[in-house]
Amino acid sequence: MNGYYSRKLHSLLGIIPLGAFFVEHLLTNYQAFERGKEGFDSAVNFLNSMPLVFFLELFLIWLPLLYHGVYGLYIAYQAKNNVGHYNYSRNIRFTLQRITGVLTFVFVIWHMYDTRFQVAIGQITHEQLGGVMHEMVTNPLIFALYVIGIISASFHFTNGLWAFMVSWGITVGPRAQRISSYICMGLFVIMSVMFIMALTAFRGSEFQEVSAIGEVIQTVLS
Ligand code: HEM
Repeated sequence: MNGYYSRKLHSLLGIIPLGAFFVEHLLTNYQAFERGKEGFDSAVNFLNSMPLVFFLELFLIWLPLLYHGVYGLYIAYQAKNNVGHYNYSRNIRFTLQRITGVLTFVFVIWHMYDTRFQVAIGQITHEQLGGVMHEMVTNPLIFALYVIGIISASFHFTNGLWAFMVSWGITVGPRAQRISSYICMGLFVIMSVMFIMALTAFRGSEFQEVSAIGEVIQTVLS
């Protein structure tokens, strides 16, 4: 029983609310690809027009992320890698879940620092976020690191969804678990591709801001 409830809470928070937020975040950013700067800006405005947005962020993103992330690091470093208990591909995915958890942790801190944190300390406004992303992803190194971060986070979420369905008794038999692994890995590919399409869209010149914020971004990046 030791740690049972804290593990269950960790597992639940990975899907609700973090997984739900992750999907929402993908759809917001995908607007940059589908509807350009105007679409992205209106998606950001819509989110910020929600009532009590600070508390929504606090309880649906920051606190769950803190708990899931910190406790997740603890689980990852305990590293019982279960060799021999499961078949080969299941074992690999189990290990990858932990590796991508650590990569996602680093990526999320970096990404939040460049975006939401800069808004919070008044360096940039929500309206300038598209321009900030443009400045970042036109740098090939940052673009490459973002792609790694995106792929890690997408794998972590979709493979986590598979593990969640096993551990909460939703997919019980081997057949159900095999079919759900195809669905989750399909979802992994779709989400990664959509995120990369959004990232590529931010490279477009329509996201380029007039130079005033250029200096701020240079400071943030350096
Ligand atoms: C921020 C850094 C993060 C770290 C260090 C982390 C770490 C972990 C670890 C180690 C596991 C495996 C738990 C186990 O084997 O029992 C896990 C599971 C999971 N994580 Fe994360 N995670 C992070 C972020 C996220 C995010 C942002 C999401 C949502 C998009 C997420 C969704 C999940 C899901 C759905 C599971 C599966 C839960 C289950 O096994 O029942 N994680 N995480």
